[in-house]
Amino acid sequence: MIDPFGRSITYLRVSVTDRCDLRCTYCMSEKMTFLPKRDLLTLEELDRLATAFILKGVRKLRITGGEPLVRRDVLSLIDNLSRHLETGALEEITLTTNGTQLRQHAARLARAGVRRLNVSIDSLVADTYARITRGGDLGGVLDGIKAANDEGMAIKINAVALKNDNANELADMVAWAHSEGHDFTVIEAMPMGEISEDRYDQYLPLSLVREGFETRWTLTPLAHRTGGPARYVRVEETGGQLGFITPLTHNFCEGCNRVRLTCTGQLYMCLGQQDKADLRAVLRQEGATDAMLAAAIDDAIARKPKGHDFVIDRPGSAPAVPRHMSTTGG
Ligand code: 5AD
Ligand code: SF4
Repeated sequence: MIDPFGRSITYLRVSVTDRCDLRCTYCMSEKMTFLPKRDLLTLEELDRLATAFILKGVRKLRITGGEPLVRRDVLSLIDNLSRHLETGALEEITLTTNGTQLRQHAARLARAGVRRLNVSIDSLVADTYARITRGGDLGGVLDGIKAANDEGMAIKINAVALKNDNANELADMVAWAHSEGHDFTVIEAMPMGEISEDRYDQYLPLSLVREGFETRWTLTPLAHRTGGPARYVRVEETGGQLGFITPLTHNFCEGCNRVRLTCTGQLYMCLGQQDKADLRAVLRQEGATDAMLAAAIDDAIARKPKGHDFVIDRPGSAPAVPRHMSTTGG
């Protein structure tokens, strides 16, 4: 699949639920209304759609949410999708998780062929973690990371930079992650969905974070790009990798290789735009064939926009897109 800007689309992110057992302040409002279960794609439908994308050339699949591990039986979906790893059609299946339920699922994920995980942690201070997540238990997440590590999975820690919550802690978090053998990525908060606070008050440009790191370490830019938005450096003193995802201070769209499927079967061609294709409608048509699905996917890819229009430039502005990150899974 090649989009109108010549980008090859080989990466599909699939959100299997919009629900989450945490309520991170930058991600969700305190009281969220989640989708009724009947609106969700069934696991069979998720499999069929993901498979349609794999037949069209998708090589990497990431399972996201909300929190993917709160969806009942998501492990059986992953088990089933792993047949595409065995045939070689798919290079990898990865997961983005908050880690709260990782301890009980790590072994089965590893058995299904999941080799890499992204785990989101925005603080290593238990109280701060609980405040950011509105009640999360840091210890349980760390246990989950250990379990996944023991299963041989590579773990990348993702943290959103938050001016009032973790700005002073990020360097220590990097040092911890690297000492544990995990890569680390810092993410700029993106204006997606209504939250209870003003995003302007949380926003911390990564240019400042990076300056802080540079007073402590030597950062050597790495050429390698994952086709994703992160720019990587090596921290010479720790030997570990450090990524920066900077949608606001540095646009990352020119190399975009991905599209996102929501748990209701809506395909978003860009995280920061509203246009979408309703693949559930195609799927649920009487006698829908694989050819019809493939045509709908082609149609959607032909509309992939050049990039997002995120800005957080003044207090009180509306989000750039009304949906939350948990709809499209980041
Ligand atoms: N801006 C940036 N990152 C976000 N995440 C959730 N909401 C936002 C936002 N508005 C992050 C989570 C997780 C990943 C899936 O997206 O912390 O790391
Ligand atoms: Fe849940 Fe992730 Fe959103 Fe936090 S950032 S509320 S863990 S989906």
